[in-house]
Amino acid sequence: MEPAPRKVFVKTYGCQMNVYDSARMRDVLAPLGYSETTTPEDADLVILNTCHIREKAAEKVYSEIGRLRRLKRARAEQGGEMLIAVAGCVAQAEGEEIVRRAPSVDLVFGPQGYHRLPQLLARKKSGEGPVVETEFPAEDKFETLRTGQLAGKGVAAFLTVQEGCDKFCTFCVVPYTRGAEASRPREQIMAEARRLAAQGVREITLLGQNVNAYHGSDGGGRTMGLAGLVAELSSIPGIERLRYTTSHPRDMTEDLIAAHAGNPKLMPYLHLPVQSGSDTILKAMNRGHTAADYMRLIDKIRRAKPDIAMSGDFIVGFPGETEKDFESTLQIIRDTGYASAFSFKYSPRPGTPAADMAVQVPEAEKDARLQALQKLVTAQQTAFNRQMVGRTLPVLLEKPGRDPGQLVGKSPYLQPVHVSGGPHLIGMIVDAHITGVGSNSLSGHYDQAV
Ligand code: SAH
Ligand code: SF4
Ligand code: F3S
Repeated sequence: MEPAPRKVFVKTYGCQMNVYDSARMRDVLAPLGYSETTTPEDADLVILNTCHIREKAAEKVYSEIGRLRRLKRARAEQGGEMLIAVAGCVAQAEGEEIVRRAPSVDLVFGPQGYHRLPQLLARKKSGEGPVVETEFPAEDKFETLRTGQLAGKGVAAFLTVQEGCDKFCTFCVVPYTRGAEASRPREQIMAEARRLAAQGVREITLLGQNVNAYHGSDGGGRTMGLAGLVAELSSIPGIERLRYTTSHPRDMTEDLIAAHAGNPKLMPYLHLPVQSGSDTILKAMNRGHTAADYMRLIDKIRRAKPDIAMSGDFIVGFPGETEKDFESTLQIIRDTGYASAFSFKYSPRPGTPAADMAVQVPEAEKDARLQALQKLVTAQQTAFNRQMVGRTLPVLLEKPGRDPGQLVGKSPYLQPVHVSGGPHLIGMIVDAHITGVGSNSLSGHYDQAV
């Protein structure tokens, strides 16, 4: 019997892995009759795929639940039903606490439970109270979580190859919410990449909390690092571009650096967070490297791939951070020169060692430092974008632009590029002559469609 048609609305917070996971949840629900809707108003099931990384991100969930509760009540008054589910990292971190604080929530399950979603829904439908599932199951969720039709809508796709983290930076919740570092076997990844290529995907971004710690099995009992995986993925016909994120400086191996020099499909863009430029703070953060180690690494990478664009993450106001420490962070930014960067005010997270450190930095201080840091990276980003004018860049055309007859693509350096062209060109790589630069994008034209 065909399942009754229903609608699911998934709201995604946080990182790219959550974006990937949300697509997997839609895939798992499709055989149960659920199709996607873009508003909660007509949804039978609303899933909030949450992020716990900073307090603000986590608190957003509760205000969203508050709004949904009204919709749920209105639906019940009409004799209908709307289920509210909380998934993702807040679910993993807070579990039962969520249903205590927000009794309108029907289901709570963490990132390791997505393949069990059909069973969890069945339990709920059979009359169980709130269903909370935050165990780390023994089975491999990726065995069941296959990419479905929805995954290949675009020409650029994410593919999770590694999940979890064993590094335990003292500020970070990820090792607790995503669990221990685990890599997917190579064959599973290759199969998924081939499916994506068959659906028209041309660019794959490999995802992992520490993606360069990847150590999957190669099928023959040996382990394979990210460089090896990248090499194999490059051989799949149709896959023209590969990227990976997020990398940790400690796992930037020689062979991965060599891949940047030797593999033209590996894009010259590297997100390599350093968080701080002060050795005192790096030590307190448990990052496992010094500022000089990072600079040596950047040198080595740039020697191998001179045009590589660097990106990073920074935290200001980590406990005990002095003006002098902060100045060292500005210095490492000046020395590195970033094409883009993400920066955050330190947010104490329950259960992490840094939250209990004695000297917390006042909020006003954090605000001032964040502003100064962002001013510097914005200047670097603008300079980086401006130097593209007059150059010819290969641009992967991804989707229609805002204006009719316009397309948006990506440069190798992850910059959005606006060109003119019809939708039939989507998926092509054109050599675009860059003529203009906006605040966050480029524009250009190309001589002929290939
Ligand atoms: N695995 C990645 C980071 C994932 S979290 C890595 O190791 O680089 C993304 C970013 O959020 C981090 O790089 C850090 O800059 C920021 N972040 C993490 N915890 C934070 C906290 N408690 N307060 C503020 N920013 C934080
Ligand atoms: Fe968090 Fe550090 Fe692991 Fe990155 S390396 S996920 S910042 S604990
Ligand atoms: Fe947030 Fe979890 Fe990603 S805490 S950043 S959604 S791994």
